[in-house]
Amino acid sequence: MRILITGGAGFIGSHVVRLFVNKYPNYEIYNLDKLTYAGNLNNLTDIEKKANYHFLKEDIVDGERMHALFNEYRFDAVIHLAAESHVDRSITNPNEFLMTNVLGTANLLNAFKDLWKDDFNGKIFYHISTDEVYGSLDDGGFFLEDTPYDPKSPYSASKASSDHFVRAYENTYGMPIKISNCSNNYGEYQFPEKLLPLMINNIKNNKPLPVYGKGENIRDWLYVVDHARAIDTIFHEGKLGETYNIGGFNEWKNIDIVHLLCTVMDKKLGREKGTSAQLITYVTDRAGHDLRYAIDANKIMKELGWEPSLQFEEGLELTVDWYLKNEDWLTSVTSGSYQDYYDSHYEKR
Ligand code: NAD
Ligand code: DAU
Repeated sequence: MRILITGGAGFIGSHVVRLFVNKYPNYEIYNLDKLTYAGNLNNLTDIEKKANYHFLKEDIVDGERMHALFNEYRFDAVIHLAAESHVDRSITNPNEFLMTNVLGTANLLNAFKDLWKDDFNGKIFYHISTDEVYGSLDDGGFFLEDTPYDPKSPYSASKASSDHFVRAYENTYGMPIKISNCSNNYGEYQFPEKLLPLMINNIKNNKPLPVYGKGENIRDWLYVVDHARAIDTIFHEGKLGETYNIGGFNEWKNIDIVHLLCTVMDKKLGREKGTSAQLITYVTDRAGHDLRYAIDANKIMKELGWEPSLQFEEGLELTVDWYLKNEDWLTSVTSGSYQDYYDSHYEKR
């Protein structure tokens, strides 16, 4: 089986590529990635020499190129993760999200459809999405697979649109699709624009910890390796045409998670308890900030037998240890354009 994994040099994609390359030596794994600021081949140094791993530096926005690649490699399956993924950047530059997340997904769907339309048998187009498409749970409850879509940021609107395209291609062309919608991931190789690695980096460097608004927003956190395991399970065991929600039943207010991280880091860095928490700084809220996300992951747990492998505190310690040990990785991704992004995003707050 030839599997195209898009966005495999990014945070979640690199964990999915690693898992598939190591676990399935009989599959040929093609990692297609444009290597934007968020894509980094250093995330994959441990598997890059494996015989079943191949890298394609390509842009999914280039539809003709996608057709050419599908005709050349005849991918049997696609696991599509490539996307612009950061909500704050979508507020500053929505069109980039429209191009990559909507047009890029449509280009892959078209290339896949045009190659296999006479016989979809045994083929899979698996689209990786987010819980943010369901909107914000301001009045309690959980997101279920049939919760109506109500995206509220340019990022989530672009992801919702791409999900709709995927389902429309199933309905119209009979394409064999699967979709999963996951909650917030944390873990190794996450780009430090996102909450946890940004706070880890700032605590380490004694810089202010910018908490948006009052820090009351709630997210459900899942260890990235558990997301990759869920993707493996859905790819192999999930039913065609189905949606699966993935989450950790692990809700935290932002301010509480930042305090927990400060406590863990104080211990690891040999600082007196309470030292890092003094860096917490409340800053201007994100525009249109969704209050709460919470996934009901019962479907994947009951139907496919998947469950998270780690308790959150355990996963957080592993993550902190990794960032402290991999100083070179952190320095390399935070040098250059990261600093410009950081300054322009946070100095206004
Ligand atoms: P990421 O930003 O770390 O990685 C995205 C990858 O896509 C990068 O390697 C980047 O180079 C690549 N890419 C971007 N534009 C491209 C283009 N035009 N052509 C080819 N490659 C391109 O993102 P992530 O956090 O790993 O998220 C991966 C996927 O999972 C996304 O679809 C995201 O919406 C979804 N998701 C993320 C989370 C999360 O918590 N991070 C949760 C649920 C779902
Ligand atoms: O829910 C899944 C989504 O989780 C994914 O689809 C997205 O790709 C991913 O980026 C993530 O989106 P969030 O907006 O929830 O993640 P982020 O790490 O940007 O922010 C988490 C929370 O922390 C959110 O409420 C905003 C807040 N925050 C974030 C940053 C970067 C702060 O308070 N300060 C910050 O500096």
